[in-house]
Amino acid sequence: MDNIKSYVQEHKDRFISELIELLKIPSVSADSAYSQDVIDTSEAVRASLEKAGCDRVEICDTPGYPIVYGEKIIDRNLPTVLVYGHYDVQPPDPMDLWTSPPFEPVIKKTELHPDGAIFARGACDDKGQMYMHVKALEYMVRSNSLPCNVKFMIEGEEEVGSKSLGWFVEKNHEKLQCDVILISDTGMISNQQPSITTGLRGLSYVEVEVTGPNRDLHSGLYGGAVANPINVLAKMIASLHDENNHITIPGFYDKVEELTMEERAEMAKAPFDLDQYKKALDLDDIYGEKGYVTNERNSIRPTLDVNGIWGGYTGEGAKTVIASKAFAKISMRLVPHQDWEEITELFTRHFESIAPSGVTVKVKPHHGGQGYVTPIDSIGYQAAAKAYEESFGIRPVPVRSGGSIPIVALFEKELKSKTIMMGFGLDSDAIHSPNEHFGIFNYLKGIETIPLFYKYFVELSK
Ligand code: BES
Ligand code: MN
Ligand code: MN
Repeated sequence: MDNIKSYVQEHKDRFISELIELLKIPSVSADSAYSQDVIDTSEAVRASLEKAGCDRVEICDTPGYPIVYGEKIIDRNLPTVLVYGHYDVQPPDPMDLWTSPPFEPVIKKTELHPDGAIFARGACDDKGQMYMHVKALEYMVRSNSLPCNVKFMIEGEEEVGSKSLGWFVEKNHEKLQCDVILISDTGMISNQQPSITTGLRGLSYVEVEVTGPNRDLHSGLYGGAVANPINVLAKMIASLHDENNHITIPGFYDKVEELTMEERAEMAKAPFDLDQYKKALDLDDIYGEKGYVTNERNSIRPTLDVNGIWGGYTGEGAKTVIASKAFAKISMRLVPHQDWEEITELFTRHFESIAPSGVTVKVKPHHGGQGYVTPIDSIGYQAAAKAYEESFGIRPVPVRSGGSIPIVALFEKELKSKTIMMGFGLDSDAIHSPNEHFGIFNYLKGIETIPLFYKYFVELSK
């Protein structure tokens, strides 16, 4: 047990089987049918932190799902790392597209994971990545090499907007005081080119409802004579982008930070293979905002996407009907300086203004959060870069991600600490999709890299 590499080699089978047990519990936060499973998962996380060597572990009740808090304080004068993660997972549907059941984890080899990957909902997002931190702590405690204080805060509502966590953080500044926040809930470019996530996009999520006639109508008797809410909704949605795929909502781009040509040139250095990208998605071409390349479109540019649309008859066969109502769920990914509440306002005003007479429109805001950018000259970033360089043998590159972890901006505001996002997943790991998986290589590399972060963070803090 002299170093982390040999410790991982010696204990890897147990690390894998423990994660598999955690993945068997279907902690789907969006669906109340699973509420007992979500609670059971918080218990399992609590037990794992106790076993790994935290001195104090608590289940903190909230208006929603519990937050698991654990700490090991070795010396108040030393720095403190706060680890954040989530134990809830996305719903597994569509079920029939899984090649093995989502809550019966199995190890299978893939092209990008020749050593095998664990297939299960939550394998990568975020149980697998969160559990790397638990096992890294276990190593540091057992080998007596934990160089500073550590706090864990693992929540169960990330996939539904982290409402209770916001409440908890506001009430617990003292308890959560720390020098850096460490999260593994993002990805990296590839196993050959590690990267550190330096940016997350913000999010505004809304649901819209278009109502026409007061009841569903015969599409022959009334078709052509009244507004069809589904036709109208489709037209309204289509008008939200222009021919260059710019978003047409007035004011939408006002606060968008434009990167300099130098910054864009820097970004373009990250390895990216367009042919492989298309091939992995079975696409004959890519699509997006004019004037930007793929890696910009999905990170430094804001977007608007319909996530779901429904209304009318979708059952077997045909039914001739004009529906009374049509609905859609729409997400807008935002970039730094765009305020999510302001964007939600702009969207609402615009969407209502483009509704033709003959229908009424309702916009219901769901949740959202601000974007985030972390500097690369901070001690935390430097420590993370050194840790990856040592464990992968390659210097990692900074990358802004297109995903969102809305609570990160709130952490900075409330706790005044920077967040470092040390992700070990790959974009192809199918998070939120059927057949989500997490490479065994990635899981073990994560466990290996994390203690190095602690070591360098403390060294650089001196
Ligand atoms: N872990 C993801 C976010 C992520 C994944 C960021 C990969 C960067 C790279 C997180 O669990 C997630 O899914 N977030 C949601 C937002 C949330 C409010 C539901 C998202 O990005 O859609
Ligand atoms: Mn996540
Ligand atoms: Mn997620």
